[in-house]
Amino acid sequence: MTDIQNQKTTAREVLAALGHGERVAVVGSINADLTVETEQLPCPGETVVGGPLETLPGGKSANQAVTCALLGTATSFIGALGDDAHGDLLYQSLRRAGVDTAGVSRVNQPSGSTLITVDSHGENTIVYSAGANATLNAASVAAQTEIIRGAQVLGLCLESPLEAVAAAATIAREAGVTMALNFSPITKVPDSLLRLVDVLIVNEHELAVLAGRPLDSGDAAGLRAALSDLGFERAVLTLGADGALVLEGGEFVSVPPFAVAAVDTTGCGDAFMGSLLAAVAAGEPLSRGACLASAVAGVAALRKGAQASYRNAREVREFLDFS
Ligand code: RIB
Repeated sequence: MTDIQNQKTTAREVLAALGHGERVAVVGSINADLTVETEQLPCPGETVVGGPLETLPGGKSANQAVTCALLGTATSFIGALGDDAHGDLLYQSLRRAGVDTAGVSRVNQPSGSTLITVDSHGENTIVYSAGANATLNAASVAAQTEIIRGAQVLGLCLESPLEAVAAAATIAREAGVTMALNFSPITKVPDSLLRLVDVLIVNEHELAVLAGRPLDSGDAAGLRAALSDLGFERAVLTLGADGALVLEGGEFVSVPPFAVAAVDTTGCGDAFMGSLLAAVAAGEPLSRGACLASAVAGVAALRKGAQASYRNAREVREFLDFS
């Protein structure tokens, strides 16, 4: 699947298949992204001059949920917000996108936040402070069991306490809900949790950490061996500017990226994962889902911020038609 026209056609077909009664649940993080643009990212010990400070809605899990909802999939988010102005901004962003917020609690803590620097090539550095996200635990997730059970697919990442992630994964496994884990930010995870993963979404560095050895992105056999040694049968390996490799049904499929002039890549990986969640919930194979995900991530790179850069299904369709 190396032909871009073929990829666009597939992405359009997958887009049309979304939003026909399927449901996605995402459990995890939601952050206020305190963002400054600079010409170059600072080196350790260096001070650089930046533009105005902007506070934008983010958080890996909330970003995935917002992407999914904007594409037309019924989506529920389970997470914890602070009782502060950032909490209001983040809650409004979920609601505007059409995310079901019945599983969102407000706690007496500052909302999760990040410090983000974006350079003139759209690359970034991110420092995460968990805040209210740290209050998500096994009990608060268990209180939302029915939301998880009502979904076809559950999305998880590692910005939340592991006990909350494991609780959500266990509920999903018991209910036969497909669980997709984004292994980010890199965290030591017990094997018991990895065994609950149906679809793994990793970049090359994260896979190398999981595998415990260096890997070469050009060596498909080595990558496949690393995934199968770890026990994963369905996985998406994201390769940045080189697109993605999809493992499913014993086959490795290469999905090229959409080449765009990136303004800000913050949240593009989350847009990719959110699109995959939507596609898998609609019964699409991972490789077809990755065709849409690649387009949605490409569109997201064209504007500033994470959720602020995401487009709805109609706008993604226009991008596919005119790019
Ligand atoms: O992946 C991008 C996201 O990571 C940002 O929105 C930030 O909140 C951090 O969670």
